[in-house]
Amino acid sequence: MSAVAHRSIVSLRGLGVTLTGAAGPVEILRGIDLDLARGETVSVVGPSGAGKTTLLMVVGGLERPSAGRVEVAGEDLAALDEDALARFRGSHVGIVFQAFHLIPTMTAIENVAAPRELAGAADAFGRAREELAAVGLDHRLEHYPGELSGGEQQRVAIARALVNRPDLLLADEPTGNLDAATGDQVIRHLFARSRDREATLLLITHEAHLAALCDRTIRMADGRVEAAVAEAAAGSEAAGGQRDPTGGRDQAPRRDREVEDRSGARGAPGRRNALAPPEGARTGNGSSSGNGTGTGTGSDGLRPAGPVPSR
Ligand SMILES: Nc1ncnc2c1ncn2[C@@H]1O[C@H](COP(=O)(O)OP(=O)(O)OP(=O)(O)O)[C@@H](O)[C@H]1O
Ligand SMILES: [Mg+2]
Repeated sequence: MSAVAHRSIVSLRGLGVTLTGAAGPVEILRGIDLDLARGETVSVVGPSGAGKTTLLMVVGGLERPSAGRVEVAGEDLAALDEDALARFRGSHVGIVFQAFHLIPTMTAIENVAAPRELAGAADAFGRAREELAAVGLDHRLEHYPGELSGGEQQRVAIARALVNRPDLLLADEPTGNLDAATGDQVIRHLFARSRDREATLLLITHEAHLAALCDRTIRMADGRVEAAVAEAAAGSEAAGGQRDPTGGRDQAPRRDREVEDRSGARGAPGRRNALAPPEGARTGNGSSSGNGTGTGTGSDGLRPAGPVPSR
């Protein structure tokens, strides 16, 4: 491991992902080199199809690369088999998805406790209660996802992502299904909780004002890191703990987004799902990271619930 990698929580070298579908091989990530320092907040922006979600999946150990080296929290992910990868995710990674992916038949506290129980901890419900209180939901412990608003569901998902005290918090358009005001509230919680936990935050977003809250922004295009956007002005201020999610807001009207399914199981967008692929999906790189049937969480509690989640 390099000296840089020692200081980094994430170190990517020559990362490539190629998938082979019916139309032949497609290079989705092409030679990405990237380091994330412990505790920093980094946003990833770029057009649809740029490879942002794929990058997040590889960093989270949910998708295996076709080329290159991926080190996270000092682990060379290529050296880990599926069981070891699940343990790695359980101890190091929390993920927040756009469509929440809570388990609809479990209450808020059960959803949050699940990854901790799977990790074999005795204090799962105590920790779940703590994390739910931290996102202002101590009065909703026994509610089912269908009885919660979209913003509340996403706060439950944040609590779930943090219940095992991960080093790395990955968020893929976490406000994408929320209206602007609710999204800002959720983002406040995401930043505050990741800072409290001293977790590194990797945030994919299409919204400039959210990207600007991070210490730095990475722009992706066509499977490459195109440019490290100049450090956001808000970044240094943010590092001091005074991030204001509404600061620097672009006043342009935003696209209205609906929470399509209050259970969090959003309709399949008709594309690949690396987390819970239908049989035969994901043939390109021999990845077996997509496991399970698409219902329930995986053994590490990180995979989304519900049928064929969107990414
Ligand atoms: N199974 C597959 N076979 C071939 N190409 C795929 C497959 N799944 C995804 N892709 C392609 O990979 C590219 C990157 O997808 P990815 O989901 O990482 O993009 P993204 O930057 O997250 O986009 P968005 O902003 O729309 O979420 C896209 O062009 C997509 O069409
Ligand atoms: Mg995406």
